[in-house]
Amino acid sequence: MTFDITSYVRSHLLKLKPYRSAREEYADKGREMILLDANENPYSSEINRYPDPMQSLLKERLAAWKKVAVNQIYLSNGSDEFISQIIIGCCEPGKDHIIIVPPTFGMYKVSARTYGVNVNEVPLIENFQLDVETILNNTKPESKLIFIPTPNNPTGNSFNLEDIEAVIKGFSGLVVVDEAYVEFSKIPSIISWLSKYPNLIICQTFSKAQGMAGARLGMAFAHHDIISFLNRIKSPYNINSLSIKAALKRIEEQDDVNNQVAILLSERNKIEQTLSDINFVSKCFSSDANFLLVKFDDSYLRYKQLLKYGVVVRNSSNNIGCENTLRISVGLPEENDKLISILRTME
Ligand SMILES: Cc1ncc(COP(=O)(O)O)c(C=O)c1O
Repeated sequence: MTFDITSYVRSHLLKLKPYRSAREEYADKGREMILLDANENPYSSEINRYPDPMQSLLKERLAAWKKVAVNQIYLSNGSDEFISQIIIGCCEPGKDHIIIVPPTFGMYKVSARTYGVNVNEVPLIENFQLDVETILNNTKPESKLIFIPTPNNPTGNSFNLEDIEAVIKGFSGLVVVDEAYVEFSKIPSIISWLSKYPNLIICQTFSKAQGMAGARLGMAFAHHDIISFLNRIKSPYNINSLSIKAALKRIEEQDDVNNQVAILLSERNKIEQTLSDINFVSKCFSSDANFLLVKFDDSYLRYKQLLKYGVVVRNSSNNIGCENTLRISVGLPEENDKLISILRTME
């Protein structure tokens, strides 16, 4: 597969000499060394040493699990960090732009704007699906990245795979398919497409179904040249030792994760069915994730009422096409039951 990274990323960054720790360059892996290179406190605890900057062991396990090569994996401090790194890496501030498909995950725009990168918005069409024609007609030489989260946040639906494929095929920049909620989806991951589309990057996270939001661990999978580029521009120790350890354990606990996912999906169906009886709910959008987008008569009023009862949901009404909606995450069965009884009491 021929792939020329120079047409995708900022050229001056390709020449950047990355930060390397002495340990990375000179340590003899098989031998016990006296480590006097990094000004750490030598008294041993679980975390007195800096973590492995390349997270080799974790990547080996992930490679086996996700069926990709180790050099196709980039790990980040949550997907949020990957999103900002790929924007920094590909977009010239004040000149280039990213394309997003609102209503969409908010961090794409926030990250781009933080770095002075413009944002081109192509809203979704009916049933919250991609407007492939307008997306492709809108691309220019300055369009460097398209972000497609599927299942989508805040709408909850998955995009048609043919549409995603048409965007990847028709776009000359990089397409980031954000699979943060993939474990909940009826549509499997498209990670196997990496072998045919070198301009595709998939990102996933340990924050949602994997139950490790507090550990901040995101994964990006892509052509090895893109991964190697991301590794050059990352901060040296972006993944901490405690998160690496927790992730290694979690990878072995996928039966538990699958059980939790099954419960959450059945709870989601339960909430969805109940909502149809509530007279101030006008619509519950069909979801392929662990949350529901729900249209109310007056979302601001209902949001405040729920807060009074001690329930925090997300007001998603400011998103295009989501007027009067709240986004409700699926909680524990007893929490969902409480939510349902509160909604039934509200007037
Ligand atoms: C679509 C999507 N991508 C990425 C993220 C962020 O994930 P992380 O916690 O790994 O930064 C979220 C969080 O809500 C999300 O909804």
